Amino acid sequence: MLEEKRPPVLIDKAKIEARIKELAQEISRDYAGKDLVIVGVLKGAFVMLADLVRKIDLPAQIDFIAVSSYGADTKSSGVVSIIKDLDLDIQGKHVLVVEDIVDTGLTLDYLMRSMRARQPASLEVCALLNKPEARKVDLEVKYCGFEIPHVFVVGYGLDYAEQYRQLPYVGILEENAAER
Ligand code: IMP
Ligand code: MG
Repeated sequence: MLEEKRPPVLIDKAKIEARIKELAQEISRDYAGKDLVIVGVLKGAFVMLADLVRKIDLPAQIDFIAVSSYGADTKSSGVVSIIKDLDLDIQGKHVLVVEDIVDTGLTLDYLMRSMRARQPASLEVCALLNKPEARKVDLEVKYCGFEIPHVFVVGYGLDYAEQYRQLPYVGILEENAAER
């Protein structure tokens, strides 16, 4: 039962909602009059993407890409592969990649390279969470929800072994917090 293993709250529902609204306003201003394609990185970004796009006041195309990087572990393997590619052609489009969390940055760095090769007009990142302490590559997150410390978090789309994605808040997975 989800009730029995509810992770302690790091960022509550109201804070997430307020921050997503601010990000959506910023994005709506920055991309006004541009051909916008919003790319959600599966699976973790699906909750944020759903909330974000409904607050973006602009026409936009929405697509998804899926990568594997972690398996069922909590540490980045550094091995990334695209397991579901984009359906849309992004050449000449303004692309905004929506990620749940940027940790080492390895996943996103790989994705950004792959997308940059398709010659979009611009390419930026919007991430709900950012763990700057864990970063292994230089990577700009233009739109960032929250910076968090180096702990393993779950909820609001983020999983541990495919569990906890449906939690309406971001919580700390306690059994892993100490060893990371
Ligand atoms: P990176 O390649 O280390 O930046 O890891 C990126 C991916 O790892 C994210 O898209 C998440 O799916 C996963 N990840 C990294 N940190 C966490 C965490 O604290 N909780 C859940 N998933 C995480
Ligand atoms: Mg992910």
